[in-house]
Amino acid sequence: MNYAEIIEYVKKMTADNGRPDKYNFRSRYEHTMRVYRWAIKLQSKLGGDLDIIALAALLHDIGWDDTRDHGEVGAELAVEYLDGLGVDQETIKRVGEIIMIHEDKDTDAELSLECKIVMDADLLDEVGAISVLWDSMATANEDEASYKKAYYRIKNFYRINKPKIRRCKTDAARAEYTKRMQLLEGFIAQLEKELF
Ligand SMILES: [Fe+2]
Ligand SMILES: [Fe+2]
Repeated sequence: MNYAEIIEYVKKMTADNGRPDKYNFRSRYEHTMRVYRWAIKLQSKLGGDLDIIALAALLHDIGWDDTRDHGEVGAELAVEYLDGLGVDQETIKRVGEIIMIHEDKDTDAELSLECKIVMDADLLDEVGAISVLWDSMATANEDEASYKKAYYRIKNFYRINKPKIRRCKTDAARAEYTKRMQLLEGFIAQLEKELF
């Protein structure tokens, strides 16, 4: 598999962030590459077919359409692209299935290990040190931005996302999610001491 070429394709397909201008820093391409790295890390602990995991992680967010389901559009594009590369049909089918369902983090459908890993890697990129950056930078772009506003946003984000650990589908991801929430707890406690 020529991953360098696939990464170039992903870069092209995610070039338009599809986000409001003020959130331009939230790069879909960079998100994809972080998900890809985490998926590979999880695979090294948990096993699963590395090609299926890597391809699904790289291609999971290429499809965006205002009128159609994001997973469905992405799966369609990925299948067509991989077919053009001559990838075997079984791999294509399984990658397509993962992309199709990846946003449905609360599904109770039976999922393959590869699917669980890609969904967990995607979920992990929502929380942690990275979410402090996101909340701070998003606050900075609002009217009357302040450290306190950023603090409240970070705290609210923590409150909303703490219970979402239930969405983790593997123990390895649950352990990492827990670590990230603990980091946020420590950060918020320290910030309270320094700000107020
Ligand atoms: Fe997505
Ligand atoms: Fe994603």
